[in-house]
Amino acid sequence: MSVKVVVVGSANMDMVAFAPKLPAPGETVLGTKFEMACGGKGANQAVACSRLGAETWFIGRVGKDTFGDILLQSFQEAGVKTDFLQRDPEVSSGVALIFVDETGQNEIVVAPGANGRVSRKDIEVASPVWENAKALLVQFEIPLPTVGYAIGEASRHGALVIVNPAPSPKETFPEEWFGLVDVWTPNEREIEGLTGIQVTDLESAEKAAKALLDKGAKAVVLTLGANGSLLATPDFVRHFPAFKVQAVDATAAGDAFAAALTVRLAEGAPIEDAVLFANAAGAIACTKVGAQPSMPTRNEVESLLKSQP
Ligand code: RIB
Repeated sequence: MSVKVVVVGSANMDMVAFAPKLPAPGETVLGTKFEMACGGKGANQAVACSRLGAETWFIGRVGKDTFGDILLQSFQEAGVKTDFLQRDPEVSSGVALIFVDETGQNEIVVAPGANGRVSRKDIEVASPVWENAKALLVQFEIPLPTVGYAIGEASRHGALVIVNPAPSPKETFPEEWFGLVDVWTPNEREIEGLTGIQVTDLESAEKAAKALLDKGAKAVVLTLGANGSLLATPDFVRHFPAFKVQAVDATAAGDAFAAALTVRLAEGAPIEDAVLFANAAGAIACTKVGAQPSMPTRNEVESLLKSQP
């Protein structure tokens, strides 16, 4: 039977321009192609959780506009439960402008729209969602007080709390919430925002992960792009090298990673197994273009894992 997970977060329509290189400030670069795809860190993670086999409930907001219709359709096609997705008549849906270079690296600017109005009330209205929920997965593309309220509710109902602190928070994450987080999944820049420690190599990665653990987290899984990921718990630290794949677009690889980790932890897997599974999911996401189109299925992740010596 599927485990139940709740994702609280953002949904965006992604406008993606591909170019040989990312533009420097003030520079215009001629691109090679343009694509539109459903995205948003919360929505990507919800779609991935569902494709990876979890009964997935999404709490968030889209506008009552065409992009909102398309985003809703994408959730439904992926099997995500949208009973608590609000259609906001007063603002447009979130939009992300994304540049991808020929190595698959990206730059993203998000215009939050309806995501900026995901409120405590939206979580309160969704209170039945916590029944039998095994895990909550949240990010920072919606207002921080809403994130904190969702964390409190999940924790009160005995669900695991997984926080993907993306993008780096502008406000300070309140000290009293640290103890409620079971697992953090930052990348190098996000952990620097939380700890002040710059990650330049494995040694500084371990230092930053331990600093985050010291704030009260139970585990930190730091994603390191082509260098894989680093798991730190109060008992041990372990580096997981990346799977070797042909990367075309790294957009949403972190979302696939966070979702896969959440699903396996919700299923009761040991954290090291969950990180290995998440590494595979993140790698697969890099091999396809677009955010939600690149979220992997359970079969794809299991096949990649089986293909390894
Ligand atoms: O993590 C990738 C996502 O970041 C994109 O889909 C974009 O919408 C932004 O939210």
